[in-house]
Amino acid sequence: MPGPSRQTAPRRPVAPLFDPNLAPEILDGSKRDWWQQGGKIVQALGVRPGSVVADIGAGSGYLLPFLSKAVGAKGMVIAEEIQLAFLPTLRGVGRDLGNVEVVFGSADDPKLPRRDVTLFTLLTVYHEVQNPVSFLKTLHRYATHDARLAIIDFDPERKGNPPPPQGHSVREKDVIREARAAGWGVSQRISFQYPHSQFFLIFKRL
Ligand SMILES: C[S@@+](CC[C@H](N)C(=O)[O-])C[C@H]1O[C@@H](n2cnc3c(N)ncnc32)[C@H](O)[C@@H]1O
Repeated sequence: MPGPSRQTAPRRPVAPLFDPNLAPEILDGSKRDWWQQGGKIVQALGVRPGSVVADIGAGSGYLLPFLSKAVGAKGMVIAEEIQLAFLPTLRGVGRDLGNVEVVFGSADDPKLPRRDVTLFTLLTVYHEVQNPVSFLKTLHRYATHDARLAIIDFDPERKGNPPPPQGHSVREKDVIREARAAGWGVSQRISFQYPHSQFFLIFKRL
């Protein structure tokens, strides 16, 4: 009999986990801000000061300075990762920013310490999530009733600069379908991003 993870695995390719050794070049490279526009992403999200935000799959912490500034001293950013190799870097960034708590989660459950998360951000993470429907269902456990879920990722069907990295992308329509199956519906589509190879979707509870 198949176990729970096999039951929920999508019928599409899922990328392997990002290699932490490549973070300096790719996630923290000098061109990242140019193509990713983290500040503009957080601005578009309209993050409320004092709110609790969870950056799921935080990697080396690219989005943290922007989120930390937006929630302010009375708010909190939870930086979650499932690869131990990222934790020392994340803890360093968290110490410097002051309002960031680093959490070690698992691939099926981010194990967040709070249940009042108003915004989840998954920045170029979703294409690696092995059991996306059950994973997105798990997020409800930590969310306020009006929480938002922001998913930004490369779409293999789009063109742009940088182009979608081969094997490290997911179709926007698959994300929408899987999120719906997990109880999240699209509430906003944002399209300012320079590299049109990425989509930017905001979901709310259905
Ligand atoms: C390409 S990196 C992006 C890191 C960061 N969000 C950024 O944009 O710089 C993808 C990250 O997602 C993490 N990840 C993959 N599956 C995950 C899951 N189920 N839960 C949490 N993180 C996950 C990986 O460990 C990896 O650090």
